Amino acid sequence: MPNIEKDTLEMIFTRFSGSSDQLIPIMEEAQNVFGYLSSEVMKEIARFLKIPESKVYGVATFYALFRLSPRGENMVRVCRGTACHVKGGPYILQEVEKRLGIKAGETGADMKFSLETISCFGSCALAPIMVINDTVYGRMTPAKVEETISDSSKET
Ligand code: FES
Repeated sequence: MPNIEKDTLEMIFTRFSGSSDQLIPIMEEAQNVFGYLSSEVMKEIARFLKIPESKVYGVATFYALFRLSPRGENMVRVCRGTACHVKGGPYILQEVEKRLGIKAGETGADMKFSLETISCFGSCALAPIMVINDTVYGRMTPAKVEETISDSSKET
């Protein structure tokens, strides 16, 4: 791990006493700073809390809020909630995966896009929903996917 990252992590640790029940808040803080939890970061957290690395990894993989890989420049999210599902959400996801060449939970090798699924975005009336960065696109169809992605993604 580069020294700068190690120093940053040590600064985060100074705000905690080192009790094992602080695992999740520390992981959240580390993810806020680094954008994701690398294996090196999880190893250091385990060392600080004096718990097995497997425990940190287990928590990281259990909770959807934690990311184990870096985010791409653009985040594409497809809703898999019930309303979106019945209105064709799975076809939207299939089309996005095809267009981006990645599966849900992955980031492309060029780091331009990450793809995630979400469970109900709270805009069910507009189902099916796709969210690109902070913009919500409703009543999506597979035919609109490619244009929507190219119109709304940041240039890299
Ligand atoms: S189910 Fe997709 S927004 Fe509610």
